[in-house]
Amino acid sequence: MANKSKFQAIKGTRDLLPPETELWTRVEQTARSVFGTFGFGEIRPPIFEPTELFARSIGLDTDVVSKEMYSFQDRDDSSVSLRPEATASVCRAYIEHGMHSLPAPVKLYYLGPMFRRERPQKGRYRQFYQIGAEVLETIQPGQTDAKSLDKDAAVDAEVIEMVMTFFARLGLEGLQLEINSIGHSAPECRRGYVELLRAELEKVKDQLGPDSQRRIETNPLRVLDSKLESEQALIAALPRIGDHLCEACSMQYAEVKRQLALRGVPFQENWRLVRGLDYYMRTTFEITARGLGSQNAVCGGGRYDGLVELLGGLPTKGIGFAIGEDRLILSLQEAGKADAPKGRDVYIAWMGAGVMPTAIRAAQALRNAGFRVELPPAEQKFGKSLGQADRLGSRYALILGEDEVASGQWTLKTLADGTQAKLSESELIQVLSASRG
Ligand code: HAM
Repeated sequence: MANKSKFQAIKGTRDLLPPETELWTRVEQTARSVFGTFGFGEIRPPIFEPTELFARSIGLDTDVVSKEMYSFQDRDDSSVSLRPEATASVCRAYIEHGMHSLPAPVKLYYLGPMFRRERPQKGRYRQFYQIGAEVLETIQPGQTDAKSLDKDAAVDAEVIEMVMTFFARLGLEGLQLEINSIGHSAPECRRGYVELLRAELEKVKDQLGPDSQRRIETNPLRVLDSKLESEQALIAALPRIGDHLCEACSMQYAEVKRQLALRGVPFQENWRLVRGLDYYMRTTFEITARGLGSQNAVCGGGRYDGLVELLGGLPTKGIGFAIGEDRLILSLQEAGKADAPKGRDVYIAWMGAGVMPTAIRAAQALRNAGFRVELPPAEQKFGKSLGQADRLGSRYALILGEDEVASGQWTLKTLADGTQAKLSESELIQVLSASRG
Protein backbone atom coordinates (compact mmCIF):
# COMPACT_ATOMS: atom_id res chain seq x y z
CA MET A 1 0.00 0.00 0.00
CA ALA A 2 1.41 3.38 -0.95
CA ASN A 3 2.07 5.58 2.03
CA LYS A 4 2.15 9.06 0.59
CA SER A 5 0.88 11.85 2.74
CA LYS A 6 -1.15 14.61 1.20
CA PHE A 7 1.25 16.95 2.92
CA GLN A 8 5.00 17.17 2.90
CA ALA A 9 7.41 19.33 4.87
CA ILE A 10 7.92 22.63 3.03
CA LYS A 11 10.98 22.83 0.77
CA GLY A 12 14.07 23.65 2.78
CA THR A 13 12.54 22.44 6.05
CA ARG A 14 12.74 18.93 7.48
CA ASP A 15 11.77 16.72 10.36
CA LEU A 16 14.55 15.74 12.73
CA LEU A 17 13.89 12.21 13.91
CA PRO A 18 15.24 9.71 16.41
CA PRO A 19 17.88 8.42 16.70
CA GLU A 20 19.50 11.50 15.10
CA THR A 21 17.79 13.78 17.60
CA GLU A 22 19.84 12.13 20.35
CA LEU A 23 22.92 13.60 18.69
CA TRP A 24 21.24 17.02 18.55
CA THR A 25 20.48 16.76 22.26
CA ARG A 26 24.06 15.78 23.08
CA VAL A 27 25.41 18.70 21.02
CA GLU A 28 23.06 21.14 22.77
CA GLN A 29 23.86 19.78 26.24
CA THR A 30 27.58 20.09 25.49
CA ALA A 31 27.09 23.70 24.34
CA ARG A 32 25.22 24.57 27.54
CA SER A 33 27.86 22.94 29.67
CA VAL A 34 30.89 24.48 27.90
CA PHE A 35 29.33 27.96 27.62
CA GLY A 36 28.36 27.72 31.29
CA THR A 37 32.01 27.22 32.24
CA PHE A 38 32.78 30.52 30.46
CA GLY A 39 30.09 32.34 32.47
CA PHE A 40 27.38 32.58 29.78
CA GLY A 41 23.66 32.44 30.57
CA GLU A 42 20.89 31.45 28.19
CA ILE A 43 18.58 33.94 26.47
CA ARG A 44 15.48 32.81 24.55
CA PRO A 45 14.33 35.64 22.31
CA PRO A 46 11.14 35.33 20.25
CA ILE A 47 11.19 33.75 16.81
CA PHE A 48 9.61 36.76 15.12
CA GLU A 49 10.44 40.41 15.51
CA PRO A 50 9.66 43.69 13.73
CA THR A 51 11.10 43.54 10.19
CA GLU A 52 12.71 46.90 10.83
CA LEU A 53 14.92 45.41 13.58
CA PHE A 54 16.62 43.09 11.11
CA ALA A 55 16.68 45.63 8.27
CA ARG A 56 18.50 48.14 10.46
CA SER A 57 20.92 45.70 12.05
CA ILE A 58 21.86 43.40 9.20
CA GLY A 59 21.59 46.05 6.47
CA LEU A 60 19.15 46.68 3.61
CA ASP A 61 21.61 45.73 0.89
CA THR A 62 22.55 42.37 2.33
CA ASP A 63 21.23 39.16 0.75
CA VAL A 64 19.62 38.21 4.05
CA VAL A 65 17.44 41.32 4.26
CA SER A 66 16.91 42.03 0.55
CA LYS A 67 15.95 38.50 -0.54
CA GLU A 68 15.85 35.92 2.21
CA MET A 69 13.56 37.03 5.01
CA TYR A 70 10.16 35.53 5.66
CA SER A 71 8.22 38.72 6.27
CA PHE A 72 4.49 39.24 6.59
CA GLN A 73 1.98 41.86 7.59
CA ASP A 74 0.60 41.19 11.03
CA ARG A 75 -3.08 41.88 11.70
CA ASP A 76 -2.28 45.37 12.99
CA ASP A 77 -0.58 45.98 9.64
CA SER A 78 2.92 46.07 11.11
CA SER A 79 5.57 44.12 9.21
CA VAL A 80 7.12 41.24 11.14
CA SER A 81 9.75 38.71 10.09
CA LEU A 82 10.85 35.27 11.15
CA ARG A 83 14.31 35.79 12.58
CA PRO A 84 17.12 35.13 10.06
CA GLU A 85 19.65 35.34 12.93
CA ALA A 86 19.59 36.29 16.60
CA THR A 87 22.26 38.94 17.19
CA ALA A 88 19.78 41.72 16.43
CA SER A 89 17.26 40.20 18.86
CA VAL A 90 19.86 39.88 21.61
CA CYS A 91 20.81 43.56 21.19
CA ARG A 92 17.13 44.55 21.23
CA ALA A 93 16.62 42.55 24.42
CA TYR A 94 19.78 44.05 25.98
CA ILE A 95 18.32 47.54 25.53
CA GLU A 96 14.75 46.59 26.42
CA HIS A 97 15.74 45.01 29.75
CA GLY A 98 18.29 47.67 30.72
CA MET A 99 21.02 45.05 30.81
CA HIS A 100 23.69 47.76 30.65
CA SER A 101 23.22 48.09 34.40
CA LEU A 102 24.10 44.43 35.01
CA PRO A 103 27.69 43.52 35.91
CA ALA A 104 29.65 43.89 32.65
CA PRO A 105 30.21 42.25 30.33
CA VAL A 106 26.85 40.60 29.78
CA LYS A 107 27.39 37.14 28.29
CA LEU A 108 24.45 35.42 26.64
CA TYR A 109 23.97 32.33 24.51
CA TYR A 110 21.01 31.01 22.51
CA LEU A 111 19.94 27.91 20.64
CA GLY A 112 17.14 27.62 18.13
CA PRO A 113 15.72 27.82 14.64
CA MET A 114 16.46 30.64 12.19
CA PHE A 115 14.81 31.22 8.82
CA ARG A 116 16.31 32.30 5.51
CA ARG A 117 14.78 31.77 2.11
CA GLU A 118 17.94 30.47 0.45
CA ARG A 119 18.25 27.83 -2.27
CA PRO A 120 18.28 24.55 -0.34
CA GLN A 121 21.24 22.20 -0.77
CA LYS A 122 23.40 19.98 1.44
CA GLY A 123 24.02 21.92 4.64
CA ARG A 124 21.71 24.76 3.62
CA TYR A 125 18.09 24.89 4.73
CA ARG A 126 15.34 27.48 4.97
CA GLN A 127 14.72 26.55 8.59
CA PHE A 128 18.09 25.87 10.16
CA TYR A 129 19.41 25.90 13.70
CA GLN A 130 22.02 28.07 15.30
CA ILE A 131 23.91 27.87 18.57
CA GLY A 132 25.21 31.35 19.21
CA ALA A 133 26.66 33.59 21.89
CA GLU A 134 27.10 37.32 22.39
CA VAL A 135 29.17 39.42 24.78
CA LEU A 136 27.91 42.97 25.34
CA GLU A 137 29.45 45.80 27.32
CA THR A 138 28.20 49.35 27.44
CA ILE A 139 31.00 51.90 27.23
CA GLN A 140 31.44 53.86 30.45
CA PRO A 141 31.61 57.66 30.12
CA GLY A 142 35.25 58.74 29.87
CA GLN A 143 36.45 55.34 28.73
CA THR A 144 38.86 55.87 25.85
CA ASP A 145 39.20 53.57 22.92
CA ALA A 146 42.96 53.20 23.20
CA LYS A 147 42.80 51.93 26.77
CA SER A 148 40.29 49.26 26.00
CA LEU A 149 41.80 47.90 22.79
CA ASP A 150 43.74 45.16 24.54
CA LYS A 151 40.79 44.27 26.68
CA ASP A 152 38.54 43.95 23.61
CA ALA A 153 41.12 41.78 21.91
CA ALA A 154 41.21 39.46 24.93
CA VAL A 155 37.41 39.22 24.87
CA ASP A 156 37.47 38.39 21.13
CA ALA A 157 40.07 35.70 21.70
CA GLU A 158 38.20 34.20 24.64
CA VAL A 159 34.97 34.00 22.62
CA ILE A 160 36.83 32.20 19.81
CA GLU A 161 38.56 29.95 22.37
CA MET A 162 35.12 29.03 23.73
CA VAL A 163 33.85 27.89 20.30
CA MET A 164 36.99 25.85 19.71
CA THR A 165 36.69 24.28 23.18
CA PHE A 166 33.11 23.33 22.39
CA PHE A 167 34.10 21.71 19.07
CA ALA A 168 36.97 19.88 20.75
CA ARG A 169 34.62 18.59 23.48
CA LEU A 170 32.45 17.09 20.71
CA GLY A 171 35.52 15.38 19.26
CA LEU A 172 35.39 17.34 16.01
CA GLU A 173 38.76 17.47 14.26
CA GLY A 174 40.18 19.10 11.15
CA LEU A 175 38.54 22.47 11.74
CA GLN A 176 40.02 25.59 10.30
CA LEU A 177 39.69 28.94 12.01
CA GLU A 178 40.10 31.97 9.77
CA ILE A 179 40.32 35.48 11.13
CA ASN A 180 40.47 38.99 9.75
CA SER A 181 39.98 42.59 10.77
CA ILE A 182 37.70 44.78 8.67
CA GLY A 183 38.57 47.92 10.63
CA HIS A 184 36.06 50.56 11.63
CA SER A 185 33.92 52.90 9.56
CA ALA A 186 36.14 56.00 9.57
CA PRO A 187 37.63 57.72 6.50
CA GLU A 188 41.16 56.88 7.72
CA CYS A 189 40.19 53.23 8.09
CA ARG A 190 37.58 51.06 6.35
CA ARG A 191 35.78 53.88 4.56
CA GLY A 192 39.00 54.96 2.88
CA TYR A 193 39.80 51.39 1.96
CA VAL A 194 36.33 50.81 0.52
CA GLU A 195 36.72 53.87 -1.73
CA LEU A 196 40.08 52.58 -2.91
CA LEU A 197 38.59 49.14 -3.51
CA ARG A 198 35.68 50.63 -5.44
CA ALA A 199 38.08 52.59 -7.67
CA GLU A 200 40.16 49.47 -8.34
CA LEU A 201 37.06 47.40 -9.06
CA GLU A 202 35.78 50.01 -11.50
CA LYS A 203 38.95 49.46 -13.55
CA VAL A 204 38.19 45.75 -13.99
CA LYS A 205 34.41 46.04 -13.99
CA ASP A 206 34.00 44.50 -17.48
CA GLN A 207 35.70 41.32 -16.35
CA LEU A 208 33.43 40.82 -13.32
CA GLY A 209 30.17 38.88 -13.15
CA PRO A 210 26.82 40.68 -12.69
CA ASP A 211 26.71 40.13 -8.89
CA SER A 212 30.12 41.68 -8.34
CA GLN A 213 29.36 44.49 -10.78
CA ARG A 214 26.31 45.38 -8.74
CA ARG A 215 28.28 45.19 -5.50
CA ILE A 216 30.83 47.76 -6.68
CA GLU A 217 28.06 50.22 -5.98
CA THR A 218 26.24 48.67 -3.03
CA ASN A 219 29.02 46.99 -1.04
CA PRO A 220 32.44 46.55 -2.66
CA LEU A 221 33.74 44.52 0.32
CA ARG A 222 31.35 41.73 -0.58
CA VAL A 223 33.11 41.27 -3.91
CA LEU A 224 35.98 39.76 -1.91
CA ASP A 225 33.59 36.99 -0.87
CA SER A 226 32.99 35.89 -4.46
CA LYS A 227 33.48 32.21 -5.22
CA LEU A 228 33.31 32.74 -9.03
CA GLU A 229 36.32 31.02 -10.58
CA SER A 230 36.72 33.69 -13.26
CA GLU A 231 37.07 36.46 -10.64
CA GLN A 232 39.68 34.84 -8.40
CA ALA A 233 42.81 36.15 -10.13
CA LEU A 234 41.38 39.68 -10.25
CA ILE A 235 40.49 39.61 -6.57
CA ALA A 236 43.92 38.31 -5.57
CA ALA A 237 45.45 41.44 -7.11
CA LEU A 238 43.21 43.92 -5.23
CA PRO A 239 44.49 46.08 -2.36
CA ARG A 240 44.22 44.36 1.02
CA ILE A 241 42.41 45.83 4.00
CA GLY A 242 45.22 44.89 6.38
CA ASP A 243 47.41 47.50 4.69
CA HIS A 244 44.78 50.21 5.17
CA LEU A 245 43.62 49.84 8.78
CA CYS A 246 43.95 52.80 11.12
CA GLU A 247 46.48 52.49 13.93
CA ALA A 248 43.94 51.52 16.60
CA CYS A 249 42.33 48.76 14.49
CA SER A 250 45.70 47.49 13.42
CA MET A 251 46.93 47.33 17.04
CA GLN A 252 43.76 45.62 18.13
CA TYR A 253 44.11 43.01 15.39
CA ALA A 254 47.71 42.30 16.37
CA GLU A 255 46.58 41.84 19.97
CA VAL A 256 43.80 39.42 18.93
CA LYS A 257 46.41 37.27 17.20
CA ARG A 258 48.71 37.41 20.23
CA GLN A 259 45.82 36.49 22.53
CA LEU A 260 44.82 33.53 20.35
CA ALA A 261 48.39 32.24 20.39
CA LEU A 262 48.46 32.68 24.17
CA ARG A 263 45.41 30.44 24.43
CA GLY A 264 46.83 27.83 22.08
CA VAL A 265 44.18 28.45 19.42
CA PRO A 266 45.61 27.89 15.90
CA PHE A 267 44.29 30.24 13.21
CA GLN A 268 44.85 31.39 9.66
CA GLU A 269 44.51 34.93 8.44
CA ASN A 270 42.20 35.53 5.49
CA TRP A 271 42.08 39.11 4.27
CA ARG A 272 39.04 38.25 2.13
CA LEU A 273 36.89 37.30 5.11
CA VAL A 274 34.35 40.15 5.19
CA ARG A 275 31.11 38.41 6.32
CA GLY A 276 27.68 39.00 4.83
CA LEU A 277 26.05 41.15 7.51
CA ASP A 278 26.59 44.89 7.81
CA TYR A 279 27.04 45.26 11.56
CA TYR A 280 30.60 43.97 11.78
CA MET A 281 33.71 45.97 12.53
CA ARG A 282 37.30 44.95 13.43
CA THR A 283 37.53 41.25 14.27
CA THR A 284 35.69 38.82 11.98
CA PHE A 285 36.10 35.06 11.95
CA GLU A 286 34.78 31.89 10.40
CA ILE A 287 35.34 28.22 11.12
CA THR A 288 35.13 25.65 8.35
CA ALA A 289 34.83 21.88 8.64
CA ARG A 290 35.83 19.11 6.26
CA GLY A 291 33.39 16.97 4.30
CA LEU A 292 30.62 19.53 4.00
CA GLY A 293 31.03 20.48 0.35
CA SER A 294 30.47 24.12 -0.57
CA GLN A 295 28.49 24.93 2.59
CA ASN A 296 31.44 24.27 4.86
CA ALA A 297 31.25 27.22 7.28
CA VAL A 298 30.14 25.79 10.62
CA CYS A 299 30.55 29.03 12.53
CA GLY A 300 30.72 32.72 11.75
CA GLY A 301 31.11 35.72 13.98
CA GLY A 302 32.77 38.97 14.78
CA ARG A 303 32.76 42.26 16.63
CA TYR A 304 29.86 44.67 16.25
CA ASP A 305 30.55 47.72 18.46
CA GLY A 306 27.88 50.30 17.65
CA LEU A 307 24.96 47.97 16.85
CA VAL A 308 23.23 48.51 20.21
CA GLU A 309 23.51 52.28 19.73
CA LEU A 310 22.14 51.97 16.18
CA LEU A 311 19.08 50.30 17.71
CA GLY A 312 18.56 53.15 20.17
CA GLY A 313 20.70 52.02 23.12
CA LEU A 314 23.83 53.45 24.71
CA PRO A 315 27.22 53.13 22.98
CA THR A 316 28.02 49.47 23.53
CA LYS A 317 30.62 46.96 22.43
CA GLY A 318 29.63 43.56 21.13
CA ILE A 319 31.25 40.38 19.91
CA GLY A 320 29.69 37.05 19.16
CA PHE A 321 29.29 34.10 16.86
CA ALA A 322 26.73 31.62 15.62
CA ILE A 323 27.35 27.98 14.86
CA GLY A 324 25.23 26.29 12.17
CA GLU A 325 23.97 23.32 14.16
CA ASP A 326 22.72 21.41 11.09
CA ARG A 327 26.21 21.60 9.56
CA LEU A 328 27.85 20.70 12.86
CA ILE A 329 25.67 17.58 13.07
CA LEU A 330 26.51 16.68 9.45
CA SER A 331 30.22 16.92 10.11
CA LEU A 332 29.96 14.87 13.31
CA GLN A 333 28.12 12.20 11.34
CA GLU A 334 30.70 12.26 8.56
CA ALA A 335 33.52 12.00 11.10
CA GLY A 336 31.87 8.95 12.61
CA LYS A 337 31.16 10.80 15.87
CA ALA A 338 27.42 10.24 15.79
CA ASP A 339 25.98 8.20 18.63
CA ALA A 340 25.03 4.59 18.08
CA PRO A 341 21.24 4.37 18.26
CA LYS A 342 20.12 3.54 21.77
CA GLY A 343 17.77 0.58 22.02
CA ARG A 344 15.92 -0.49 25.15
CA ASP A 345 17.57 -1.75 28.31
CA VAL A 346 14.72 -4.07 29.17
CA TYR A 347 11.83 -5.48 27.17
CA ILE A 348 9.15 -6.91 29.46
CA ALA A 349 7.87 -10.13 27.89
CA TRP A 350 4.73 -10.83 29.86
CA MET A 351 1.94 -13.34 29.37
CA GLY A 352 -1.04 -14.52 31.41
CA ALA A 353 -4.20 -12.77 32.52
CA GLY A 354 -3.02 -12.14 36.08
CA VAL A 355 0.49 -11.03 35.14
CA MET A 356 -0.20 -7.51 33.87
CA PRO A 357 -0.18 -5.81 37.32
CA THR A 358 3.27 -7.28 38.06
CA ALA A 359 4.52 -6.28 34.60
CA ILE A 360 3.33 -2.70 35.17
CA ARG A 361 4.97 -2.62 38.62
CA ALA A 362 8.24 -3.96 37.17
CA ALA A 363 8.20 -1.32 34.41
CA GLN A 364 7.60 1.45 36.97
CA ALA A 365 10.43 0.26 39.23
CA LEU A 366 12.88 -0.07 36.33
CA ARG A 367 11.97 3.31 34.81
CA ASN A 368 12.32 4.97 38.22
CA ALA A 369 15.82 3.48 38.37
CA GLY A 370 16.52 5.18 34.99
CA PHE A 371 16.29 2.22 32.59
CA ARG A 372 14.75 2.39 29.12
CA VAL A 373 11.87 -0.03 29.30
CA GLU A 374 9.40 -1.34 26.73
CA LEU A 375 6.17 -2.72 28.14
CA PRO A 376 3.86 -4.23 25.50
CA PRO A 377 0.32 -2.95 26.08
CA ALA A 378 -1.26 -6.39 25.58
CA GLU A 379 -0.05 -9.88 26.42
CA GLN A 380 1.62 -11.75 23.61
CA LYS A 381 3.37 -15.08 23.11
CA PHE A 382 6.91 -15.15 24.53
CA GLY A 383 8.33 -15.94 21.09
CA LYS A 384 6.77 -12.81 19.60
CA SER A 385 7.94 -10.70 22.54
CA LEU A 386 11.52 -11.92 22.20
CA GLY A 387 11.48 -11.14 18.47
CA GLN A 388 10.29 -7.60 19.17
CA ALA A 389 12.82 -7.17 21.96
CA ASP A 390 15.51 -8.04 19.43
CA ARG A 391 14.21 -5.64 16.78
CA LEU A 392 14.20 -2.80 19.33
CA GLY A 393 17.83 -3.50 20.20
CA SER A 394 17.05 -4.49 23.79
CA ARG A 395 19.82 -5.75 26.05
CA TYR A 396 17.56 -7.83 28.27
CA ALA A 397 14.15 -9.43 28.24
CA LEU A 398 12.39 -9.70 31.57
CA ILE A 399 10.21 -12.76 31.28
CA LEU A 400 7.09 -12.65 33.44
CA GLY A 401 4.62 -15.52 33.36
CA GLU A 402 2.26 -16.96 35.93
CA ASP A 403 5.07 -19.13 37.43
CA GLU A 404 7.30 -16.08 37.96
CA VAL A 405 4.50 -14.13 39.62
CA ALA A 406 3.64 -17.05 41.92
CA SER A 407 7.26 -17.73 42.97
CA GLY A 408 8.44 -14.10 43.08
CA GLN A 409 11.48 -15.23 41.07
CA TRP A 410 11.61 -13.37 37.77
CA THR A 411 13.52 -14.53 34.69
CA LEU A 412 16.07 -12.15 33.18
CA LYS A 413 17.34 -13.17 29.77
CA THR A 414 20.49 -11.57 28.33
CA LEU A 415 19.70 -11.28 24.65
CA ALA A 416 23.28 -11.20 23.33
CA ASP A 417 24.14 -14.70 24.60
CA GLY A 418 20.77 -16.17 25.58
CA THR A 419 21.75 -16.82 29.22
CA GLN A 420 19.00 -16.66 31.84
CA ALA A 421 18.94 -15.94 35.57
CA LYS A 422 16.19 -16.22 38.19
CA LEU A 423 16.05 -13.11 40.36
CA SER A 424 13.84 -11.50 42.95
CA GLU A 425 12.57 -7.99 42.20
CA SER A 426 15.22 -6.30 44.34
CA GLU A 427 18.01 -8.51 42.97
CA LEU A 428 16.90 -7.57 39.46
CA ILE A 429 17.44 -3.84 40.04
CA GLN A 430 20.82 -4.58 41.66
CA VAL A 431 22.01 -6.79 38.80
CA LEU A 432 20.87 -4.31 36.13
CA SER A 433 22.41 -1.35 37.95
CA ALA A 434 25.72 -3.20 38.26
CA SER A 435 25.68 -4.07 34.55
CA ARG A 436 25.18 -0.40 33.71
CA GLY A 437 28.62 0.18 35.24
P1 HAM B 1 26.03 33.87 9.68
O1 HAM B 1 27.41 33.70 9.12
O2 HAM B 1 25.00 34.45 8.81
O3 HAM B 1 26.19 34.72 11.00
O4 HAM B 1 25.50 32.46 10.18
C1 HAM B 1 26.27 31.70 11.09
C2 HAM B 1 26.24 30.24 10.70
O5 HAM B 1 24.91 29.79 10.56
C3 HAM B 1 26.89 29.93 9.36
O6 HAM B 1 28.30 29.81 9.48
C4 HAM B 1 26.25 28.59 9.03
O7 HAM B 1 26.94 27.54 9.70
C5 HAM B 1 24.86 28.73 9.62
N1 HAM B 1 23.89 29.03 8.55
C6 HAM B 1 23.59 30.22 7.99
N2 HAM B 1 22.62 30.08 7.06
C7 HAM B 1 22.30 28.77 7.00
C8 HAM B 1 21.37 27.99 6.24
N3 HAM B 1 20.56 28.54 5.34
N4 HAM B 1 21.33 26.64 6.46
C9 HAM B 1 22.14 26.07 7.38
N5 HAM B 1 23.01 26.77 8.14
C10 HAM B 1 23.11 28.09 7.96
C11 HAM B 1 25.15 35.08 11.81
O8 HAM B 1 24.05 34.62 11.75
C12 HAM B 1 25.56 36.05 12.90
N6 HAM B 1 24.35 36.42 13.69
C13 HAM B 1 26.63 35.47 13.79
C14 HAM B 1 27.08 36.39 14.86
C15 HAM B 1 26.68 36.39 16.15
N7 HAM B 1 27.90 37.41 14.71
C16 HAM B 1 28.03 38.05 15.88
N8 HAM B 1 27.28 37.43 16.76
